[in-house]
Amino acid sequence: MDKRAIILETADMVKEKLKNEGTGHDWYHIKRVWKTAQSIGEQEKANLFIIEMAALLHDLIDDKLVKDASIAAEEVEYWLEGAGVHSKDMESIISIIHSISFKGGGNRSSLSLEGQIVQDADRLDAIGAIGIGRCFSYAGSKGHVMFDPELSVREQMTEKEYREGKTSAIHHFYEKLLKLKDLMNTESGKQLAEDRHAFMEDFLVQFFEEWGE
Ligand code: ADP
Ligand code: NI
Repeated sequence: MDKRAIILETADMVKEKLKNEGTGHDWYHIKRVWKTAQSIGEQEKANLFIIEMAALLHDLIDDKLVKDASIAAEEVEYWLEGAGVHSKDMESIISIIHSISFKGGGNRSSLSLEGQIVQDADRLDAIGAIGIGRCFSYAGSKGHVMFDPELSVREQMTEKEYREGKTSAIHHFYEKLLKLKDLMNTESGKQLAEDRHAFMEDFLVQFFEEWGE
């Protein structure tokens, strides 16, 4: 199979697998990360085959999605072998999806350029209008409220609140989403993050205005 055919077959396989996914890692998340990573990869002149494959597979071994991440990882390897991916490419792809699925997403120095690009694309999907949507949808699925003025907001939560598991969708902006802009690895990622970050800040201003405190 040529590389384009491998990518398209992998996309079909992932789409089928994530059909009923309800934790914010549905197929359309993967599809957006795939397209964003591809576009950053073109600008950064990186290896597009590695990028596209890693973007498509990046959530398949996340322990939020699968019972046993090591079995899931074996399945991914089996898939890559079956598709005829060369062993060197396979190693690069597997290493990226391991670091990205790992809590915290691995740090920049442990990621190849291709890995940094997929990580940027994944993070970009957590900010901006889509990021806001995913945040409220995740909070709802966990039974968190959208906002609780009793909790210390506009700052990171206190240790005590954190331990007590008190949080809200709006809190997640301060815990994570507003920090992602400065964590971008690539120049193209940074540029894309600017607008999305500004949109979230505008959203919060309007949110608190309507909340009326
Ligand atoms: P990733 O796609 O990097 O694995 P996560 O699994 O941490 O990211 O999160 C998936 C989506 O759910 C993201 O958009 C993230 O911002 C959102 N999310 C994760 N944790 C929370 C939370 N505590 N409150 C609200 N949204 C969250
Ligand atoms: Ni993801």
